[in-house]
Amino acid sequence: MSEDAVVADAIVVGSGAAGLTAALALAERLDVLLLSKGELSAGSTAWAQGGIAAVLDEGDTFEAHIEDTMIAGAGLNDRRVVEFVVEKAPAAIERLAALGVPFNPGETVSERFHLTREGGHRARRIVHVDDATGWAVQQALERAARANPRIHVLTHHVAIDLVTERHAEGHGFAERRVHGLYALDRASGRVRRLLARAVVLATGGASRVYRFSTNPDGSTGDGIAMAWRAGARVSNMEFNQFHPTCLYNFRVKNFLVTEAMRGEGGILTTPDGRRFMPDHDPRAELAPRDIVARAIDAEMKRAGLDFVHLDMRHLGPAFIEAHFPTIVARLRELGIDPTVEPIPVVPAAHYTCGGVLVDRHGRTDLPGLYAVGEVSQSGLHGANRMASNSLLECLVFGASAADDILAQIDEIPPPPPVRPWDESQVTDSDEEVVVSHNWAELRRFMWDYVGIVRTDRRLERARRRVALLREEIDQYYSRFRVTPNLLELRNVVEVADLIVRSALARKESRGLHYTTDYPGQLPEARDTILYPSRP
Ligand code: FAD
Ligand code: SIN
Repeated sequence: MSEDAVVADAIVVGSGAAGLTAALALAERLDVLLLSKGELSAGSTAWAQGGIAAVLDEGDTFEAHIEDTMIAGAGLNDRRVVEFVVEKAPAAIERLAALGVPFNPGETVSERFHLTREGGHRARRIVHVDDATGWAVQQALERAARANPRIHVLTHHVAIDLVTERHAEGHGFAERRVHGLYALDRASGRVRRLLARAVVLATGGASRVYRFSTNPDGSTGDGIAMAWRAGARVSNMEFNQFHPTCLYNFRVKNFLVTEAMRGEGGILTTPDGRRFMPDHDPRAELAPRDIVARAIDAEMKRAGLDFVHLDMRHLGPAFIEAHFPTIVARLRELGIDPTVEPIPVVPAAHYTCGGVLVDRHGRTDLPGLYAVGEVSQSGLHGANRMASNSLLECLVFGASAADDILAQIDEIPPPPPVRPWDESQVTDSDEEVVVSHNWAELRRFMWDYVGIVRTDRRLERARRRVALLREEIDQYYSRFRVTPNLLELRNVVEVADLIVRSALARKESRGLHYTTDYPGQLPEARDTILYPSRP
């Protein structure tokens, strides 16, 4: 093979909590190529605030964590998966602590870690590093990965598509097996072949399909779109989580105000000071996120508001500053002092509960292809993810996928020869403006028509617009050389299509999917599973 091809034992696409966990476990025996389309810390992991859920308090139980997760998930969770994850949580936290994550210590000698609280959890069970847990986790995992000689890091490489039998050069391809991927090297502009016996997708979620989101720019559902195009099933894509409290501010577009603020006593009010959550749910500000986001949406629509308030003032400056130093500092930079005034907040797209359908080992439908973390639909979250269960899922599934690959690797043949990327039919684009226009249009109508409260009519409208955009983007893709923006746009329109189709297929309201056409919940909880048509 020529120099544009690299061969490793395993490839991990994505360097957040899920990808780094998988890479570190695989590197105990294998050579691993670790890919990120930006810097290693470009994903959502580095932005996580609240913490990681685990039963660590003597008064708490696995059963309670399992039940809370199932209640938040509106019964759509796979109970065996919930048990699997919850029971592995304490060990996962210990592994992170051993890597040097400086979790806040407990306030008494018998409490190892300080535990905070978030919506849906009946107990204090969230370990955290102040209000910047994700950054500390990302740094510790990155340090370990960079120090590991068996992990070869490729940053600024954008995975484009998975290599399957369609890309064979000659024979030697088993049907449906994934042998690697094509990736755009941003520095050289060249597309490279990266080949391996196993590929782990850990590319995060797709919340940037919406106009307002708490996520970094790269959350464009690339892994979901790639797996779908290669022939894997995806599931539950209609369950898009809107975090209730994203900062409302013209200077920053996606700054989250952690749920732990409500966990520690913050209250939600209308701008005239009326506390409204007790009117919507007996758990008030600590109801699961779908309920709080819908309540805010209803209050905003009823009174024509642009935002509501999160009020912390009654907790006192010393408490607020000690518990939320990062958020307080950032808000003060923006001219908001949460110790003396309420914080203006709005809901924004935050988490993709659906994704590539996987089993307990992160295996997809395609041999050789795994998916872990937010890119996957493992059965843990059901119709609504409970706060701080996501980083936990990344840690547990990153490790279990690696275990499965290590157990099988000796039986998997090395990748056969693969065709180089073909650029003979394309030229450089002279109308990049089309890409940015399509981006803006897609994200606006997804927000307007496929948001917190849905109707069939609005979903149909979105479906027609997605179809038009897809056609344009496909034509563009076949004519012009690929760029990172074009690749993300191609993926995001694919994911938008999967979301709209899934939302139209669900004839009930459950968890995060709320439609005024079918406000009730059906007696049986069923996943929405989409089947790809393979050429
Ligand atoms: P990510 O961390 O998003 O990483 C994705 C990786 O994939 C990145 O390295 C990216 O560069 C790479 N990638 C993507 N596409 C490509 C491609 N085509 N080619 C190459 N590389 C690619 N969860 C909690 O449990 N607790 C919290 O407190 C919490 N707080 C949050 C706060 C914020 C603001 C946000 C946005 C999320 C929060 N979440 C929280 C959710 C949680 O952070 C994410 O679900 C989790 O970090 C996802 O991790 P991941 O490893 O699956 O993906
Ligand atoms: C937050 O800190 O509010 C986010 C927690 C999460 O998404 O799990």
